[in-house]
Amino acid sequence: MSLADFEAAIKQLKAEADQAIEAATSDAEWTEVRNALVGRKGGKLSGLMQQLGQMPTEDRRAAGAAINSLKLEVEAALETKGASLKAAASSGPTLDLTMPGRRRWVGAAHPVTRVIDEICEIFRELGFSVALGPEAETEWYNFGALNFPADHPAMDMHDTLYLGSGAVLRTHTSPVQVRTMQRWNPPIRVLAPGNVYRRDFFDATHAPAFAQLEGLAIDEGISFADLKATLTHFAKQFYGQSTRTRFGPSYFPFTEPSAQMDVEIDLGDGKGKRWVEIMGTGLVHPAVIESAGLDSQKYSGWAFGMGPGRIAMSRYGIPDIRLLYDSDVRFLEQFV
Ligand code: PHE
Repeated sequence: MSLADFEAAIKQLKAEADQAIEAATSDAEWTEVRNALVGRKGGKLSGLMQQLGQMPTEDRRAAGAAINSLKLEVEAALETKGASLKAAASSGPTLDLTMPGRRRWVGAAHPVTRVIDEICEIFRELGFSVALGPEAETEWYNFGALNFPADHPAMDMHDTLYLGSGAVLRTHTSPVQVRTMQRWNPPIRVLAPGNVYRRDFFDATHAPAFAQLEGLAIDEGISFADLKATLTHFAKQFYGQSTRTRFGPSYFPFTEPSAQMDVEIDLGDGKGKRWVEIMGTGLVHPAVIESAGLDSQKYSGWAFGMGPGRIAMSRYGIPDIRLLYDSDVRFLEQFV
């Protein structure tokens, strides 16, 4: 090979190398290009260098210098390109910061639980604590101790599942009144939330299993005035200070006198304010105080029972009680 041919080959290789280096867009491509150009085995520059041996001696110095400077140029170009690829990889827009993030799943208390918690909090400020009783209750606690005479028609309203051996699914939280009076000495102030069961159809306004919230205050010298004042305070705290309450006559075997409390509220259905019954209440019947083993001459008290499900419906404008028990997240997540 003549010196002129050698120099032409160098020129061509230089052009090829410039183009190949320029075209590399990734680390992998850059490595491929480098091996093809300056790799020890099979690299194009090595191939050309091997030609040196076959050249006339007088041309070798010039040819050697030419190929060496080509090698330096190619290596410099590779280095520059490698650095710019690295810089692009570390600072380029590899993250799309405008992409919406994944929403975190946020749990929340069920509306019925929220209502129970809120009511317990209002009464806690008045010195009430929380008491619980079993859902599978004895007939005696559920009925007998609460002054239901055997086969009394009031029990029809409370028809329930009899579990055998004198056990029933409790139809109300009132048995916790008796359990509490047996366990603690007066003064007693407790709230008893819990599930109760009745032989009711599952429709827009009834559920065969639902939550109740019982309240009980027992002490010396407690009168109906204490009942009215405390429950009216509760209604104002819960529904707003301007809320009016009224008490009407009712009947329960375990209270005497018995009453219902109505509150004047807006149910959010566009019909404005109206009177809504929210609980049964009354002075605890002396027979109940006696069956719990306390002296009814010395102690008196009042009790109430209400349905937090109904309360949640009135507060949040829920039209169908079944929505509260369906566990449908599309409904429940509105309350998060
Ligand atoms: N236990 C009654 C019911 O389930 C409610 C109630 C409780 C009434 C306490 C008076 C006093 O309907």
